[in-house]
Amino acid sequence: MSALTYQTYHAYHIGTDQTLSPRQLHQLRISFEKQPLPATEVLAGRQGAAIVHLENMGSVAVKHYARGGLIRHVNHCAYVNWPCTRGEKEFRWLATVRQLGLPAPRPIVFASTGRLVGQCWLVTAAIPRHCTLTQISQQHDDRRLAIYDLLAKQIETLIRHRIWHRDLHPGNVLVDENGTPHIIDFDKARYLKNRRLLTVKYRKRWTRAIAKYGLQPELEVVMKKATAAT
Ligand SMILES: Nc1ncnc2c1ncn2[C@@H]1O[C@H](COP(=O)(O)OP(=O)(O)OP(=O)(O)O)[C@@H](O)[C@H]1O
Ligand SMILES: [Mg+2]
Repeated sequence: MSALTYQTYHAYHIGTDQTLSPRQLHQLRISFEKQPLPATEVLAGRQGAAIVHLENMGSVAVKHYARGGLIRHVNHCAYVNWPCTRGEKEFRWLATVRQLGLPAPRPIVFASTGRLVGQCWLVTAAIPRHCTLTQISQQHDDRRLAIYDLLAKQIETLIRHRIWHRDLHPGNVLVDENGTPHIIDFDKARYLKNRRLLTVKYRKRWTRAIAKYGLQPELEVVMKKATAAT
């Protein structure tokens, strides 16, 4: 990752590793001010990311961080932005896992309002025409076993580097039209040294999602393969 630069544009604190034109900054500001879309399927997040077009960059996904559960009625989307925002955390994790060769979305910008408390956003290169792994498994897509294998290798890489995603379930895997899985939603990630514990945590989170939402039991094969060597 190139060095990050920070700037303030209108009320937004913007961080990026690239140069943004005045037009791109304007387009980003408009996208931050749009009402977020509701999520359309289980495990697809609290809100869908808005897909917008940035001049000379193409389609990007703009994710606005929001809370779920009962707390959302009291505090829907304000976060403590210190020492770093959720968007910056996720930006850095995406850069880290991409350096390891994982095809996670390319991070472009993180943004926030407020110095200590405020809202935050993350902008990544959009994965066009994707489906989630949940959808792939339900459609009995012929490519699905090959996709499970590719994903298992990616999870193995995360485990080998002691990276704990903390929310890895089939809704946080987007599959593009070529059948490449992309793991998303890294904002809660952290390092965890103990490989055995890490494996247990990955299995638990994956299995819990399958049971809770009645997903295809064959999805279990992904975690079995990913953690077979442990
Ligand atoms: N790079 C991307 N390209 C296309 N769509 C994306 C991209 N990133 C996110 N999305 C869409 O936005 C949805 C939510 O994204 P994500 O899982 O990162 O957020 P979330 O689950 O709401 O986040 P959190 O759990 O951190 O609050 C995804 O299911 C997907 O539909
Ligand atoms: Mg998610």
